[in-house]
Amino acid sequence: MAGLVVAMDGPSGSGKSSVSRGVARALGLRYLDTGAMYRAMTWWMLREGVDLTDPAAIAARCGEPEVVSGTDPDGPTIHVDGVDVAGPIREADVTGAVSLVAAVPEVRARLVALQREIVGDGDIVVEGRDIGTVVCPDAAVKVYLTASPEARALRRSAEVAGSTVEAQREAMARRDTLDSTRKTDPLSMAEGAVELDTTDLTLDEVIAEVLRLVKERT
Ligand code: C5P
Repeated sequence: MAGLVVAMDGPSGSGKSSVSRGVARALGLRYLDTGAMYRAMTWWMLREGVDLTDPAAIAARCGEPEVVSGTDPDGPTIHVDGVDVAGPIREADVTGAVSLVAAVPEVRARLVALQREIVGDGDIVVEGRDIGTVVCPDAAVKVYLTASPEARALRRSAEVAGSTVEAQREAMARRDTLDSTRKTDPLSMAEGAVELDTTDLTLDEVIAEVLRLVKERT
């Protein structure tokens, strides 16, 4: 029998990473951060000097880098051509450009195929924007995390040194618009997904609610 797949989608700052890793740890599952893969591809494109305003230029090069994701929830890793990029992919230059790269259909086709390979027989929590809709439409448990724009901006500005809540709110709104209006695999709630608003919940409360859902659906 195929193993459990938990699909965790939602916008940035909704709590996906912390919740996904907590759920994976509690259930002894693997964990895959698909956003890190789009960030890794963006980091490589920036390093190569690819013009990110030109989707054809991105499409032409996106088959080149080797992107490797580790799936241990206690220490997920991400390498591009053997280089550890866990730090650089969180920098502002990558965050500001990733939605442009992620909107290119050839990039998505390549990374979705890689993600499905990693998911394999399951026993994994997968977080992203299109997991329940595209990558793992048969996932037993699909969660769509949301939170108010204020809560999301507050969380992100606490994580990113030197940023203000207002700057984060604006940057997130821009990224949300790009991610939910792109033609290929936009951010949207999957059929059968359960929406969880995390605005007024603690991390432990959200994890407990997802664990309850897993129990109910498996
Ligand atoms: O989750 P994170 O904020 O790290 O994702 C970075 C970006 O990668 C998103 O803003 C989105 O453009 C893209 N992404 C995506 N599909 C996914 C995961 C992330 O398009 N499954």
